[in-house]
Amino acid sequence: MKESLLQIKTAAAAELAAGTSTEEVRIKYLGKKGELTAILRSMGGLSADQRPVMGALANEVREYVEGLLSTAAAAEADKLIQSQLDGETIDVTAPGTVTPVGALHPITQCERQLCDIFCSMGFDIAEGFEIETDYYNFQAMNIPENHPARDTQDTFYFTESMLLRTHTSPVQARVMEVQKPPIRIVSPGRVYRSDAVDATHSPAFHQLEGLVVDRGITMGDLRGILEEFARKMFGGETRIRFRPHHFQFTEPSAEVDVSCFVCNSAGCRLCKGEGWIEILGAGMVHPNVLSMAGIDPNVYSGFAFGMGIERIIMTRWGIDDLRLLLENDVRFLRQFG
Ligand code: PHE
Repeated sequence: MKESLLQIKTAAAAELAAGTSTEEVRIKYLGKKGELTAILRSMGGLSADQRPVMGALANEVREYVEGLLSTAAAAEADKLIQSQLDGETIDVTAPGTVTPVGALHPITQCERQLCDIFCSMGFDIAEGFEIETDYYNFQAMNIPENHPARDTQDTFYFTESMLLRTHTSPVQARVMEVQKPPIRIVSPGRVYRSDAVDATHSPAFHQLEGLVVDRGITMGDLRGILEEFARKMFGGETRIRFRPHHFQFTEPSAEVDVSCFVCNSAGCRLCKGEGWIEILGAGMVHPNVLSMAGIDPNVYSGFAFGMGIERIIMTRWGIDDLRLLLENDVRFLRQFG
């Protein structure tokens, strides 16, 4: 028995050294039907004085073989990792693949910039609906039933009372109905008019609406806000000018120009020799508009303005054809990346 035990030691070591897997060796000697296990089982037949001697030797052999196995298992794992590493070498000198990075469309960029400017002056952003009712698009804006602005030539109608909004102004009424003064919001979004596409027209375009309502709001506040806006958008030297105009939902109303930032009002190609560029419509919120939305015009006053976002972009970048903003030619768009 002693020889058989010692023989296990040398045989296991030799087999592992020859490359037999640890699993095979373990099963052969230490497994349920393994050689060492068989010897341990037969130990009952030994004499009382031989049993402890052989028992101790058998334990020593088992520990020895287990030790061999764990060393060999570690070596096997190392070998596996090494072969994986060898198979996965990376050539750090190989040329890389360039992933093209996109950019936001100039209209989205401008919309966000406008919102940033007004948010920095304490405005919140309000959202409206592109599909509107006749009530909000017209009636609540003090545009009566037979006003020419409702002409089917300008407005896309779904039904007699549902339409694509022709301006962002209905957001004014929607905000005033749910929010009591002080109100200070801007609302960007898409609007629709039944126009054919040309260098300055598109049936779908974007506007930014502004509305401020509180006690004691005056035209001076309107002017101050718009002046600050114009400087932030077009440069610190920019001046603005109000020209009398008419909107149904504001009284008094004005069209607002900025001094041409290319020629500083001397007259150039961008401003078509005028020195000034029209950028928006504005005015004091009409008392009818306030009362229809549930705000007492004897207590509160407000101003509103609305600008075309495409027009702001075209002015800011000296673009003379609106269609460039619609065609999505990347050679054009890349310049705004
Ligand atoms: N809604 C007007 C338009 O589309 C712009 C405007 C908004 C004018 C608010 C005055 C006040 O032309």
